Amino acid sequence: MSLACGIDIGGTKIAGGVVDDDGNVLARLRAESPATSSAAIADTVVGLVRELSRHHPVDRVGVGAAGFIDAGRSTVLFAPNLAWRDEPLGAELSTRLRLPVVIENDANAAAWGEFAFGAGRHHASDLLLVTVGTGVGGGIVADGALRRGAFGIAAEIGHLRVVHGGRLCGCGNHGCWEQYASGSALVRCAREEARGSLLARALVDRAGGDVDAITGPMITELAAAGDPFCVEQLSDLGRWLGEGISSLVAVLDPGVVVVGGGVSAAGDLLMGSLRETFLRTLSGRGHRPAPEIRLAELGNDAGMIGAADLARR
Ligand code: BGC
Ligand code: NA
Ligand code: ZN
Repeated sequence: MSLACGIDIGGTKIAGGVVDDDGNVLARLRAESPATSSAAIADTVVGLVRELSRHHPVDRVGVGAAGFIDAGRSTVLFAPNLAWRDEPLGAELSTRLRLPVVIENDANAAAWGEFAFGAGRHHASDLLLVTVGTGVGGGIVADGALRRGAFGIAAEIGHLRVVHGGRLCGCGNHGCWEQYASGSALVRCAREEARGSLLARALVDRAGGDVDAITGPMITELAAAGDPFCVEQLSDLGRWLGEGISSLVAVLDPGVVVVGGGVSAAGDLLMGSLRETFLRTLSGRGHRPAPEIRLAELGNDAGMIGAADLARR
């Protein structure tokens, strides 16, 4: 039995865990993501791994990072929502930690985690994972293998352009899917619509009267309690996701689509409209099999578990 350290670097937090060969998490830690500096991110990861390996003999490290990772699984080429530009993260971490380090895209790592140990486990050899958080990430497993593409950066589905001349994205383009279908988009829309709207009174109250203090978990919490404004925000998000997923299914024909990321905590409040829109917009509907759309089973652990397992391959 070998133990690997899995690290998941997201837009707002960095999570780490000690993971065994069967995908069990034996210990875990979390830290805030210091989004302003890549050096600070590396320092945080080094700290987490040192602390985690104090009580567990880890022999390698897998890191899932929210950005474009090179084919060598080492350099972060670009990150739309974080400070990295051509960052030799793998080399830096392995020098400082004296351990082998593999860097993977965060959503690829989560896709692998769900495929090997979660929602895809007994299912399909072809899986699409869509992760909905600060951005929208994607991971593709085809014929049982993670697809990285020619340059390591396949499945950047958050940057599909879905609105001509739409909102400016962190990637530099306009109208990317993640500007409409991410957790950040959910919060931005809710804040915009809440300004001056009586319908949003409960949500604004929940945020202490400050529209800019509205968060995703507040929206989910109130929606779960039946607040119509918040229910609507989540079902709008579900529609954006459902439409995009039907386009992706037209390309990839996966056996299962797994939806993960922070926003998936909303469960049926999101998945209801997502599934309905997906089935309504899938091309050839009624004349073709449609994949099942499932919630991620490993929750927030998918990325760290997948990254740890990929570090062994
Ligand atoms: C990034 C992806 C990442 C996703 C989810 C996107 O903005 O381009 O690399 O997987 O966010 O974190
Ligand atoms: Na990806
Ligand atoms: Zn973009």
